[in-house]
Amino acid sequence: MKIGAPKESASDEARVAMTPQSAKDLAKLGYDCLIQKGAGESAGFDDAAYESAGVTVVSGAALWKEADVVAKVRPPTDAEAKKLKDGQTLISFFYPAANEKLMDIAKGQNANVIAMDMVPRISRAQKMDALSSMANIAGYRAVIEAGNNFGRFFTGQVTAAGKVPPAKVLVVGAGVAGLAAIGTATSLGAITYAFDVRPEVAEQIESMGAEFVFLDFEDAQQDGAATGGYAAPSSPEFQAKQLEKFREMAPDIDIVITTALIPNRDAPILWTKDMVEMMKPGSVIVDLAAERGGNCELTKKDEKIVTPNGVTIVGYTDFPSRMAAQSSLLYSNNIRHMMADLTPEKDGQVAHNMEDDVIRGATVTYKGEITYPPPPPKVAAIAAQPAKEKPKELTPEEKRAAEVAAFKKETTTQVGLIAVGAALILAVGLVAPASFMQHFIVFVLSVFVGFQVIWNVSHSLHTPLMAVTNAISSIIILGALMQVGSSSFIIMVLAAAGILMASVNIFGGFLVTRRMLAMFQKS
Ligand code: NAI
Repeated sequence: MKIGAPKESASDEARVAMTPQSAKDLAKLGYDCLIQKGAGESAGFDDAAYESAGVTVVSGAALWKEADVVAKVRPPTDAEAKKLKDGQTLISFFYPAANEKLMDIAKGQNANVIAMDMVPRISRAQKMDALSSMANIAGYRAVIEAGNNFGRFFTGQVTAAGKVPPAKVLVVGAGVAGLAAIGTATSLGAITYAFDVRPEVAEQIESMGAEFVFLDFEDAQQDGAATGGYAAPSSPEFQAKQLEKFREMAPDIDIVITTALIPNRDAPILWTKDMVEMMKPGSVIVDLAAERGGNCELTKKDEKIVTPNGVTIVGYTDFPSRMAAQSSLLYSNNIRHMMADLTPEKDGQVAHNMEDDVIRGATVTYKGEITYPPPPPKVAAIAAQPAKEKPKELTPEEKRAAEVAAFKKETTTQVGLIAVGAALILAVGLVAPASFMQHFIVFVLSVFVGFQVIWNVSHSLHTPLMAVTNAISSIIILGALMQVGSSSFIIMVLAAAGILMASVNIFGGFLVTRRMLAMFQKS
């Protein structure tokens, strides 16, 4: 079968659905690849690069006619949808909820449409999740765009010419785009704060070096229960608390990046006009939710505006296209993975398995039927994790009392153990000979000291510690070797067992140490 990528017809779209690299991978699945002349130029891939990757460069008309599978970025125009043929497969962003007419046309043409925006957010489908790969780029680009419009450094500096404070960045909505924005802002040196209604992202936010903005809100830390990896709408009381918090932060924040969205809903207004007015001149807001109305009240879709108090508000909706080379590479990889799932035999033949959760979820028309909306996936979404409890703040008196109680408990345990140990030794001493008792006490003491020493070593250091204590095993082996020739059968067996176990410890220790060292070595 042939798979082809046409040139995107939207004038502001620079991405392409097939790159020379993805074409090579598609060829390994058994497909012949076609590309429309000049389709990759805006993304930095010229026709010669495709040809040298074994792709046939054809005209637009030939591509729609010859390809069994058409891979695109944007949803087709009506005219493009009418070019679809009986049994042809189209893979592209499609947004079926907003494109009923397009779906009808595709159904009328008897074409099978796979919507990349409908790939369910389950672990197995992550490699095909084009919304996430594009949102990742948008998050990164949002920070770069903010920096371009912000007149200061992100990182704080102390220079001979004066001290520069670090920029303060607030990211609202820590989904894919938000986390990418957090990563970029922290790596540029900004002090980054992030807010999300889903409490499970707090750990991710903190692990990326940003501070999670906690709301003081009754029983739940934050109010958005996760459904299918997405947030649920929050209650009016919660929203009021959220706005109150943002209002408090607004005068202090230099850059706001908003990404808050619940799929198929208009973006909630989270950064109101009065908050913009409170911000310092020169501050920047990048509203990634501009497509669905924006999270900022003053955002103008596809425009950059400057408010009377000097705040720049960027409402572009084409961030991935502004980084067309990167986004084409990732998007074409998502398509390639989708094709791999559609071609389990790697024989260049599409096997459209409607029993497969991912393929079923993404298919919007199939064999002359509209198959949207899909049934919910059988596998649970990725994000479900229990909420993390906020640590309770203790007063100094409470802390002191807790420390005293812990000390008392520890002392009681230790005294108890010593008493039991002493009683046991006395009991043994009543029956055992004096020479045995001497060795036995040394043995008990060394077990005790060894236990105390090892117990206080942090878990992460146990393996290297064990490896180093190979020396102890060597002493055991020496002792066992001296005893193994004994005339007593029991001593011989014990010595042999000692040699065996100590050898396992020594050789195993070396093996584990080697593996651990290899983990830290750059290849
Ligand atoms: P996502 O669904 O992964 O993340 C959205 C996050 O917002 C979730 O973590 C959700 O919990 C959070 N959220 C929802 N309501 C909230 C509220 N009231 N307050 C705080 N947080 C809230 O979505 P993803 O993939 O990260 O995309 C984010 C946005 O970026 C979307 O609006 C998407 O359309 C947009 N986008 C924009 C592009 C552009 O060029 N402008 C390109 C790609 C994506």
